[in-house]
Amino acid sequence: MSDSHETGGTRRDFLYYATAGAGAVTTAAAVWPLVNQMNPSADVKALASIRVDVSGVEPGTQLTVKWLGKPVFIRRRTEDEIKDARSVSLNELPDVTGRNENVPGSDAADENRSLDESGEWLVMMGVCTHLGCVPLGDGAGEFGGWFCPCHGSHYDSSGRIRKGPAPENLPVPVASFVDETTIKLG
Ligand code: FES
Repeated sequence: MSDSHETGGTRRDFLYYATAGAGAVTTAAAVWPLVNQMNPSADVKALASIRVDVSGVEPGTQLTVKWLGKPVFIRRRTEDEIKDARSVSLNELPDVTGRNENVPGSDAADENRSLDESGEWLVMMGVCTHLGCVPLGDGAGEFGGWFCPCHGSHYDSSGRIRKGPAPENLPVPVASFVDETTIKLG
């Protein structure tokens, strides 16, 4: 990949991220009243768990929501992204740990990181495991996933660190589908 191509890609990715972030604020704002209505006295519970409507997330796009003060990436992956992620063997990975709170102790095979069996949905904390910057998404970086420009960490389409100073894969928080179009975090 040439430098000019990379620069163009990074700028496009940043703009996309900013757009996704703005959308996420709306989502988060819509989530809060719902939670509070259901259980107005449980402020702590409301903080610990949110529901995100993902009905508008098309394949190949992602939503960024703020949860517990941190960004969470919810990506609906394309067939190609899933295929790429699942064709990688563990010995190509700097970090072979799954880092998925839903599957403790698992290895970093993509099947252990995606939210659903088909691998369409990937949910991860959007915080670089190097020094905590928010990586750029939408296929950014050399491995078609996320790229943290702070010090040059490249993550693949499964959010696994592939190159650069970040020591660990992006962590997958407790998450589940509560119905066909709603993901619960926490
Ligand atoms: S904070 Fe991401 S590479 Fe340093």
